[in-house]
Amino acid sequence: MYSSNPVDSIRKFHLELTTLRRDLHAHPELGFQELRTAGIVAGALEALGIEVHRGIGKTGVVGVVHGREHTSGRMVGLRADMDALPISEEGSSQHCSTKPGLMHACGHDGHTAILLGTAKYLAQTRNFNGTAILIFQPAEEGLGGAQAMLDDGLFDRFPCDEIYALHNWPALPPGTIGINPGPMMAASDKFEIVIEGRGGHGAHPYQTIDPIVVAAQLILGLQTIVSRNVHPIDSAVVSIGSVQAGNPAAASVIPREARIVGTVRTFKDSVQATVESRMRALSESIAQAHGATAQFRYQRSYPATINTPNHANFVADVATSLFGDDHVVRDLMPSMGSEDFSFMLGVKPGAYFRLGQGGAESGTLLHNSRFDFNDEVIPTGSAMFASIIERSMPLVER
Ligand code: NI
Repeated sequence: MYSSNPVDSIRKFHLELTTLRRDLHAHPELGFQELRTAGIVAGALEALGIEVHRGIGKTGVVGVVHGREHTSGRMVGLRADMDALPISEEGSSQHCSTKPGLMHACGHDGHTAILLGTAKYLAQTRNFNGTAILIFQPAEEGLGGAQAMLDDGLFDRFPCDEIYALHNWPALPPGTIGINPGPMMAASDKFEIVIEGRGGHGAHPYQTIDPIVVAAQLILGLQTIVSRNVHPIDSAVVSIGSVQAGNPAAASVIPREARIVGTVRTFKDSVQATVESRMRALSESIAQAHGATAQFRYQRSYPATINTPNHANFVADVATSLFGDDHVVRDLMPSMGSEDFSFMLGVKPGAYFRLGQGGAESGTLLHNSRFDFNDEVIPTGSAMFASIIERSMPLVER
């Protein structure tokens, strides 16, 4: 007994949501500093008569929308992230960032506007049986805002039965929904290896233990882990992002120390454990073979974002019924990027899906300094979230 397609109703506030989205874009805020954004979100929810809870996960905001009926006792969560990135915007739009060095380069301004659009529609219609929990999360970009909200008792206070989130995706055409029933994004880990040798004169290397030669062997050695130790059907990435040793002004000095840092991406716990243990073994043994030592540090940051199959299929079915089969990709390839909605999916069943917005063909990918969220797809995202609520908690047929 849900309304046929919320997208028509939501289009009526498309202009208002676009204005709001562009205002957020012009005023980006980094993780846990989203005070202005959180204030706008809370104000918009209050104006709609929605119960608002602030300060969950520092700058997080939660809105509670009660359905017309609540005999189901069910609670479904929708999550949008709010934070921006430390990137200088190079775009030329009128709503360009007003803050030097900060911009919404990942479209979280769009996600926030989308969930506010859903809030407005749900508050006006309430065509569901249960409670919708609207989660406006801080600090997705590397600071673990989702975990901070969990630590503040998010799901103790709002015990959701299932949870959903979306992310815009430039590689899909505008209005297309992409999802798959398993891993959507990888676990993201950081590592640092410090090789200590013995410095000396470049003319007399036999008197030194050259950490640069050790680092060179280790860098190549690390690249054998994916090809030789990880099962060929599994996936892993080992990338080194920085190598530091010596002084460019000292061509004839062998330094004492070399430092390698990088990232590891995996989908399975077992693969993650294999990569970590092989990295440690190679670091220590290659260093030892040359008389050097290696300090190996490995930090697990975000876990893999893994959909529950039933909930992912449900999202794909909702998308198909709203936008048609030709606008739904049900077997979207996972990304080796990461996402901290993974912490929430670690404790609740649910699904994370992609909202196509185009732009990849012109190179304006996520985290690009010319990126801008495509306002055209706001109603698509809002309608997806609204229909997820209406169809996961349908009104009782009379
Ligand atoms: Ni993002």
